[in-house]
Amino acid sequence: MAATEAALAGRRWWRRPWVAPLALVVVVFLAFSIPPYLTLDPAQSRVPQPQGFPAHYRLLVAHVLFGSIAMVTCGFQIWPWFRRRHPAAHRIMGRVYVFGGVLPGGLLGLAIGAVSPFGPVIRVSNVLLALLWLGFTIAGVRMARQRRLVEHRRWMIRSFALTMSIITNRFWAVIATVSLLPQLPTTFGGNETLMVQAIAGLSGWLGWVTTLLAAEWWLERSLSAKSSAQVRVIL
Ligand code: HEM
Repeated sequence: MAATEAALAGRRWWRRPWVAPLALVVVVFLAFSIPPYLTLDPAQSRVPQPQGFPAHYRLLVAHVLFGSIAMVTCGFQIWPWFRRRHPAAHRIMGRVYVFGGVLPGGLLGLAIGAVSPFGPVIRVSNVLLALLWLGFTIAGVRMARQRRLVEHRRWMIRSFALTMSIITNRFWAVIATVSLLPQLPTTFGGNETLMVQAIAGLSGWLGWVTTLLAAEWWLERSLSAKSSAQVRVIL
């Protein structure tokens, strides 16, 4: 049993089939998402400015930068090899994830999310997502401070799932666009704004709900695997 755990713990990064694909997906997402906002030119923004909210663009750019910090640091935090080999760096990067990523990125996401120009359905999704992202992360920090490391890991896996849900959101946006575009003249009566709001709403909700469900499934699975191993040891 101990030997199996030791063997699992010592597994190289290339023997964990998700490490390299996850890193690749994060790099591709950031390479596509960030450049328009680094120009600081509002004309390059993919999000139109809501009426009567002149600070929106500046808050959006700050949100994108803090979100990127969260995404990169969280990739390292979840990597078992990095956690074990560099525990001090894990602690420092954990603080950067929380205080330089999730907290500012989530508060800004809350502010711009509540007035999203993409309609009421995505606004509700944005606000709930931001609150859960902040809440899960703060719960993870509290557990770490109390040295309750099993619970710390569980909350941080949920926080990680929500950080990465922005990527699955883009995947659902493509599926929703391909499915709904042919229905523009029928379901949406030719109204493009309605269609865009439907696509944004669907991809927003599906993005984080499915990722969070996957994280819960994974946590449940690893927990029941551990309990079965304990039962086998007892018997
Ligand atoms: C998990 C909590 C998050 C929330 C609640 C959130 C919320 C938002 C909101 C409200 C917008 C403006 C679009 C709209 O009005 O609907 C936005 C845009 C954006 N967010 Fe986030 N966000 C989150 C996480 C992240 C993360 C982790 C990143 C990583 C880089 C990120 C990157 C972006 C980018 C690049 C945009 C601009 C839209 C685009 O160019 O496609 N967000 N976000």
